[in-house]
Amino acid sequence: MARRKKIYEGKAKTLYEGPEPGTIVQYFKDDATAFNAEKKDVIEGKGVLNNLLSEYFMVGLGQVGVPTHFLKRLNMREQLVRSCEIVPLEVIVRNYAAGTMSKRLGIAEGTQLPRPIVEYCYKDDSLGDPLVTEEHIAAFGWASQQDMDDILSLALRVNDFLSGIMYGVGIKLIDFKIEIGRIYDGDFQRLVVADEISPDSCRLWDIKTEQKLDKDVFRRDLGSLTDAYSEVARRLGLMPNNPASITKPTLIN
Ligand code: TYD
Repeated sequence: MARRKKIYEGKAKTLYEGPEPGTIVQYFKDDATAFNAEKKDVIEGKGVLNNLLSEYFMVGLGQVGVPTHFLKRLNMREQLVRSCEIVPLEVIVRNYAAGTMSKRLGIAEGTQLPRPIVEYCYKDDSLGDPLVTEEHIAAFGWASQQDMDDILSLALRVNDFLSGIMYGVGIKLIDFKIEIGRIYDGDFQRLVVADEISPDSCRLWDIKTEQKLDKDVFRRDLGSLTDAYSEVARRLGLMPNNPASITKPTLIN
């Protein structure tokens, strides 16, 4: 097979030119980073789990009418997506206080917020993705007012969808981050959910025990990250309940 052209290598994924114009292959790596890549490790199997989980969420969003860049999963580590221009914002939706919001405002982690709160961070690793307001976004031309209305509506729809799915499997969606892409159809542009949706970019707590099933397991050294992500995948029905049962050969009489 001809060598593919690498377009971009990020912290958790590598992007390659897709087979047709306007498509990209997203390869999910096993690399885990936190605190703006100050903490790094390779977690075997993470890429496979995130590929599966992101496919599951993106397909589900498409089925309820939320546009995404996802086209199809190609194999265990790769998925085909539509190429888009990424809006330089990390769009964060929070249902419960945690992480930087808890630190910034002195609210205990896990406190339910009066309503979902949407925050925007400017995507720039060298600046540590600083929190910005709609004023900055408009003034610096990162997105128009119309875009911001659409982005807010997409973010809240993704929140409703993900919270519901997670609630159904006994998991509380504390917060998450999405990225938004622009796709040009002739003279028109539309905004879609892009990048990935996985436990790398969400906070997921077991409803009963408050056990963390997301990247905080890695950030805070709370145990095995693959065990946590596998648990999410297992509850969503993406993995066999008893993996040993499919690997064991069975005698056919
Ligand atoms: P936040 O609490 O602001 O930051 P941190 O994860 O560093 O404590 O993050 C809120 C949610 O958004 C959390 O689930 C992680 C996710 N997120 C990312 O995945 N990438 C990012 O660059 C940012 C800023 C947040």
